Amino acid sequence: MRIGVIGTGYVGLVVGACLAETGNHVVCADIDKSKIKLLERGQSPIYEPGLEPLLKRNLSEKRLSFTTNVGKCIENAKIIFIAVGTPPDENGSADLKHVLSVADTIGEHLNGEKIIITKSTVPVGTALKVREEIERHSSQTFHICSNPEFLKEGDAIDDFMKPDRIVIGIESEKVKPTLEELFHPFVRSGNPLIFMDIASAEITKYAANAMLAVRISFMNQVAALCEATGANVDLVRSGIGSDSRIGPAFLHAGSGYGGSCFPKDVRALIKTGNELGIDMSIPRSAQEWNDIQKEILVEKLKKELGENLSGLRIAIWGLSFKPGTDDIREASSLAVIPRLLECGAKVFAHDPKAIDAARQVLPSDVHYVTDEYSACDKADALLILTEWQQYRRPDLDRIKQLLKQPLIIDGRNLFNTDKMKKRGFIYISIGRKDTR
Ligand SMILES: NC(=O)c1ccc[n+]([C@@H]2O[C@H](COP(=O)([O-])OP(=O)(O)OC[C@H]3O[C@@H](n4cnc5c(N)ncnc54)[C@H](O)[C@@H]3O)[C@@H](O)[C@H]2O)c1
Repeated sequence: MRIGVIGTGYVGLVVGACLAETGNHVVCADIDKSKIKLLERGQSPIYEPGLEPLLKRNLSEKRLSFTTNVGKCIENAKIIFIAVGTPPDENGSADLKHVLSVADTIGEHLNGEKIIITKSTVPVGTALKVREEIERHSSQTFHICSNPEFLKEGDAIDDFMKPDRIVIGIESEKVKPTLEELFHPFVRSGNPLIFMDIASAEITKYAANAMLAVRISFMNQVAALCEATGANVDLVRSGIGSDSRIGPAFLHAGSGYGGSCFPKDVRALIKTGNELGIDMSIPRSAQEWNDIQKEILVEKLKKELGENLSGLRIAIWGLSFKPGTDDIREASSLAVIPRLLECGAKVFAHDPKAIDAARQVLPSDVHYVTDEYSACDKADALLILTEWQQYRRPDLDRIKQLLKQPLIIDGRNLFNTDKMKKRGFIYISIGRKDTR
């Protein structure tokens, strides 16, 4: 099939590469010339495991190409995916300017009957706005669908190739056979392709992300209760996660959720509810607790070192919002590091992939280091913000020698508290007893 994907970010690139991998002819378009230049050479502008080889193979086998000519991409495709960003606007709603600008371009270039699929996460009712925008320019027949994406950065290729389910909102049964054929390679092992009306598909995406955010904030609140009572949140997690009604996923306490999706989608869901007169109090509480949680590591650090961190050197491990990605949007690091600098600390930060992205948004006085141990050299404390694999089994003796005092504040509960005590660390984590 001839596919056009508009927007070559984390989602658009994965969609384009995976659809090309299954034999389709895919053209990916973006208005960002520098991104397209890199992509034409087979280089990925983002770090996502497995993505670059997929891009290179499909480019060289001529199933995949890139362009800045969005109009031409639309004209040549039978199926068009809209995968542009929907960042939050100043009042928390999803900003639809990119989606509607693409709809405008589609309207101008519609040259035959096409299927237009919204992949971007958009509030309920957006498909109708996309339809209206296209119809301002064109009287051609077209079919709007909503196909929310559930991939996780860091596992994006696997998630797209082997999804738990594919949700597709449609307004006409006519498109079903084409979409079944397009998505068949991804649901061969029996995972469902769930067709529904468009409004339900749009809400499904927000409900999924809000549900996961609520689980995380709930566990962070339970962690506070554990800290106040001497209980251990990891044990509570295994205790409840083994209940088949609850399940183990998304129950890890930590220093708050971040990323390009949960924070913005929870805010947008609350906003949609407000507009419709529905108080979305549950996601709102999750968001409020998450804001508190993002401050918690700084509070724990100040409890150990005092309010004034002037002249103290703090090592940071992890800048990305989660392991396996260079995405730092709404990462804990963006909340923690500016606070440390405000309190006078000198920050030495390490991340395996996200240093370039962090440099663009964090204050210029952050020092970046390319190996995690040099961040610890003469530092007054080590703060762990992201659970990258290489931080899970580090050389603790070496860290102890490098640090000025053996203080680790762990926002991801990577180590066993008893073992850390035996090794002589002051070890402070989330929802577990401090050891010293
Ligand atoms: N990142 C994720 O993990 C994830 C997962 C599921 C869903 N989503 C949703 O998918 C959408 C895209 O997210 P992302 O993280 O890939 O965004 P992104 O910011 O990484 O990429 C968006 C791309 O769209 C391009 N763009 C903007 N306007 C354009 C236009 N008019 N024409 C062509 N290109 C244009 C930008 O240049 C950019 O390259 C969002 O709605 C997001 O909520 C993201």
